[in-house]
Amino acid sequence: MTQGAWDIRLENLKLGYGDTVVLHDVAATLPGGKISVILGGSGGGKTTLLRHILGLSRPLAGKIYLGGHDIFALPDKEFRRLRRSMGVLFQDGALLGGLTLAENVGLSLYEHTNLRFDDIRGLVLHKLSLVGLEDFADYYPNQLSGGMRKRAGLARALATDPPLLLCDEPTSGLDPINAAQMDALLLAMREQYPDMTIVSVSHDLASLYNIADHVLVLNSGTVAFSGSLEELKNTDDPFLRRFLDRKADRVPAAAARNPELAPKVRAALDAWLSR
Ligand SMILES: Nc1ncnc2c1ncn2[C@@H]1O[C@H](COP(=O)(O)OP(=O)(O)OP(=O)(O)O)[C@@H](O)[C@H]1O
Ligand SMILES: [Mg+2]
Repeated sequence: MTQGAWDIRLENLKLGYGDTVVLHDVAATLPGGKISVILGGSGGGKTTLLRHILGLSRPLAGKIYLGGHDIFALPDKEFRRLRRSMGVLFQDGALLGGLTLAENVGLSLYEHTNLRFDDIRGLVLHKLSLVGLEDFADYYPNQLSGGMRKRAGLARALATDPPLLLCDEPTSGLDPINAAQMDALLLAMREQYPDMTIVSVSHDLASLYNIADHVLVLNSGTVAFSGSLEELKNTDDPFLRRFLDRKADRVPAAAARNPELAPKVRAALDAWLSR
């Protein structure tokens, strides 16, 4: 697949389940290396769109291009590699309760690579340090707050250094301080992983103003707006104006470094992802 940050191009998409159409005439490009926020009412199809970008469901019609490649036209092996390599933070965090944070974050590496325990542990501790949880590596999920669990979910999503990071409502259920911290983390990830394209679903306007470079608004089963945050702020569309009655300052990105993966870790990841 293409090097560099991947654009996500949605072309004439019709998405749904069986005979039920959830979204139609979806056409938009989410820019590579930036944070796109998908906004829309509950049940409006935000998670559905993410599932399709992840390749978990096939569109009823239309195409999804990642880094210029029509994902549903890829050969099986490439398609599997692509799906394995995506980073996802699910709506509920989705950590396994019987495993420690370190085990949760490293799970796919323990299961699918031949890396040694120490190598995986090192990689896992680095990912946990990115989200401020390195001291909690050996805690179980139920010993942590909801915000900490979401951050651990983010660390797990980053385990494979994914080209795409898709977050489904990363701030829902968090208090404003924890929500702002999650926003700051996503901004920090954008700085540290310039080749990673981030898509985040939100109901939350404060979060939109904090993190969005690009905004996709879904309404009435289709795209009501796709453009930069500045363009959205300046719109005079009456429906969109109703979204825009609240303002918040950008949260500064946390400073942290993401060192290169050790060559043997990279090689083991590649071996697993291309199986
Ligand atoms: N697996 C599924 N099978 C059938 N219908 C589904 C499935 N998943 C979602 N739907 C339907 O698709 C529509 C959109 O749901 P979706 O979960 O994408 O909305 P959403 O915008 O993510 O909502 P929320 O903000 O509440 O998370 C809903 O009407 C829902 O009932
Ligand atoms: Mg949803």
